[in-house]
Amino acid sequence: MYNVKKITKDLSWVGANDRRLALFESVYPVPNGVSYNSYLLMDDKTVLLDTVDKSVNHQFFENIEHVLNGKCLDYLVINHMEPDHCAEIETIINKYPQVKIVCNSKTQQMIGQFFDINLSENQYVIVKEGDTLNTGNHELHFVMAPMVHWPEVMVTYDSTDKILFSADAFGSFGAVDGNIFADEVDYDHRYMDEARRYYTNIVGKYGVQVNALLTKASNLDVAIICPLHGYVWRKDLNLIIDKYKKWASYEPEISSVLIPYSSVYGNTQNCAEFLASELANLGVKDIKMYDVSVVHPSYVVADAFKYSHIVFASTTYNMEIFVNMEILLNDISAHNLQNRKVAIVENGSWAPVCGNKMSEVISKWKNTEIIGNKVCVKSSLKTEQAEELKILAKEIVQSM
Ligand code: FEO
Repeated sequence: MYNVKKITKDLSWVGANDRRLALFESVYPVPNGVSYNSYLLMDDKTVLLDTVDKSVNHQFFENIEHVLNGKCLDYLVINHMEPDHCAEIETIINKYPQVKIVCNSKTQQMIGQFFDINLSENQYVIVKEGDTLNTGNHELHFVMAPMVHWPEVMVTYDSTDKILFSADAFGSFGAVDGNIFADEVDYDHRYMDEARRYYTNIVGKYGVQVNALLTKASNLDVAIICPLHGYVWRKDLNLIIDKYKKWASYEPEISSVLIPYSSVYGNTQNCAEFLASELANLGVKDIKMYDVSVVHPSYVVADAFKYSHIVFASTTYNMEIFVNMEILLNDISAHNLQNRKVAIVENGSWAPVCGNKMSEVISKWKNTEIIGNKVCVKSSLKTEQAEELKILAKEIVQSM
């Protein structure tokens, strides 16, 4: 059965949820599923904005057919060529052979890479920055947004209803549960953490490019944001836009301490617990600890973007950084985190070497300062190192 949601009089959400997927992009756990959003504009000409992942194609085509209600599909706008949005292009062309593909030249090239589709040039409407498409009562404007998240990405602005089709930007992990608008759910409590985890892990590396898009979007009069994942924004747009400004600029959201640790037998955990408790005694609020062997790195990456200070506490393992901690540090490096204050705790029973190795990785992060002395623990926390952790806690607090 169809499952469509009205966004405006002329626009419907025709996307679908995947609630069975374990790992989005084969990397990120999505315990609450994920939505693949597609939008259908019913004007004198009909326009589909993006398709969906192949896993939800059955629902998607039921939705389109319900909204089209016998009309033909005139245009398919492709804002993003990643397969979670473009998987159904070929089927769309086969079902609606008269459809014209509206995309930029990079997208046209990628269509050839992903599919064996023979389209004549006149079946394409190739657009560039500032081009428009009139569909009757609506005028669509095309704005290039390279590297938000792939190089071919563009966003589409409907100046009639002031709607920004924002591609991956402003999206979130998590299926949409009946409601479609962010103001219909307790977004801040139920979804903001997942919006952060989605942004930081998927687009976090490209802060410069996201800022460029935010600047372009600030010149548009936007009333509604329609992203490719998660809820649609029609109220309090600054709730999400302000977050994006911080995330894209690598500005921490809170002044507090994140402590990711690895611990084989509990002794490094004991150091992390002792330090966290000292920080709390000194008045630090909202401290967060993660055992990096238990929690998927995407959650820690997200909080690394949120917190101003990070203390990495690791065991030495095979004369290296403990494997899960090394994965986390490399993941944070890959996502271009900057502007942080960091401290280091190492453990090792006979050759504690991971501290210097962690410093080497962290020293490459832009505008990131390593504060205090590295605390070196041999096997278990003793009085002398506990005193060093107390000093480190004070130095962290002084730097806040
Ligand atoms: Fe949701 Fe970059 O694709």
